[in-house]
Amino acid sequence: MILSEYQKIDIDFTALGQIALLVLALYVVSAIFSYLQQLIMAYTTQRIVYDMRNQVKLKLTKLPLKYFDGRTHGEVLSRVTNDIDTISNTLQQSVTQVITSVATIIGILIMMLTISFWMTLIALIVLPLTVIISQGIIKKSQVFFKEQQKQIGNINGHVEEMYTGHQIVKAFGQEEKSQEEFDRINNDLYQVGWKAQFMSGIMMPIMNLVNNFSYVLICVVGGVLAVNGLVSIGDVQAFIQYSQRFTQPIAQTAQIVNVMQSAVAAAERVFEVLDEEEQIPDPAEPKLIDEAKGAVTFENVKFGYDPEITIIKDMNLDVNPGDMIAIVGPTGAGKTTLINLLMRFYEIESGKITVDGIDTSEMTRSNLRSEFGMVLQDTWLFNGTIRDNIATAMKQQQMKKS
Ligand SMILES: Nc1ncnc2c1ncn2[C@@H]1O[C@H](COP(=O)(O)OP(=O)(O)OP(=O)(O)O)[C@@H](O)[C@H]1O
Ligand SMILES: [Mg+2]
Repeated sequence: MILSEYQKIDIDFTALGQIALLVLALYVVSAIFSYLQQLIMAYTTQRIVYDMRNQVKLKLTKLPLKYFDGRTHGEVLSRVTNDIDTISNTLQQSVTQVITSVATIIGILIMMLTISFWMTLIALIVLPLTVIISQGIIKKSQVFFKEQQKQIGNINGHVEEMYTGHQIVKAFGQEEKSQEEFDRINNDLYQVGWKAQFMSGIMMPIMNLVNNFSYVLICVVGGVLAVNGLVSIGDVQAFIQYSQRFTQPIAQTAQIVNVMQSAVAAAERVFEVLDEEEQIPDPAEPKLIDEAKGAVTFENVKFGYDPEITIIKDMNLDVNPGDMIAIVGPTGAGKTTLINLLMRFYEIESGKITVDGIDTSEMTRSNLRSEFGMVLQDTWLFNGTIRDNIATAMKQQQMKKS
């Protein structure tokens, strides 16, 4: 009976064709916008991490040596590489999705309101539930993500140290101990890693459950309204489809915000570096020495690597140009420390060090250091040719002249 009724209806192919064309046009426009969105986001996020890397690199050159004494190289490295990488990956994916999701949510909300106010209200009932649940999960996962980035730093630090000190580890038979330490950090990373991943994966299923709950509610209410003739069945059908599409981006947003916690944890570590206290800047109007004669004095110099532990106290020294001085002492006496202070690798607490009568704190570090010839206890070669390595000092001289 129903069939015969439909057979009588004339199909308006013109209108159908127009709608088809409109839909086609919408898809094309949407594709163009997707393309633009990807382009803009890829450019923006990469630009952000590019700037971030630059800032961190610049910062590392301004940090006092004390900063590097206190942590492993690998740990510092991890902040520049892994953490910034994490930010870059998460940001690029997430921000695009969040924008799409929010736009979808708003669009669908409008469409739902045009169908039925009361049914829209029902669809919105689950929102507070979504927020509460996602906040709970995010709070939990935050801790794990933070710990995860920290452990990645630790493992980097450990591996870097063990490879740099390979010979020493072997010479003193510390392979087993090194292995044990690695196992410990690796295990910590594994423990916190699976928890972080689990917490970020659990969001979607829970959100789905909540959404299905709202789906059932909408079906029931829609059914009752339709039976009472308050809305047409077609509207209920359309509404159900909208509501399904409505909850999806909400769940997605909750999921993304959760995953973004790893970027937040990584960003915190990067900002920690950027917020570190810098070495005292060079004076605005520095006194320059062109060709040092070599008169060096220490006046009541006081210094300790740790402010609590003074290593040098009330030290006075007077060296005339041309003097040849040997500083002799047992290990730990402070010979290297003297050089560190002379070249301003570390700042003295009080007193004064002068070269040719000029307080070294009134000179720029590069000018001061260019006046010294220094041979370190252990040689270290840059990755490059022998020529490059020999030329390092010459380059410095050239830079000074230019
Ligand atoms: N970067 C540092 N941080 C903290 N303490 C340090 C640091 N470098 C050296 N010290 C401490 O300062 C003191 C002096 O060390 P320094 O390296 O100047 O001795 P040294 O005379 O050069 O010894 P060596 O003959 O072994 O080279 C030691 O007690 C040492 O433990
Ligand atoms: Mg020494």
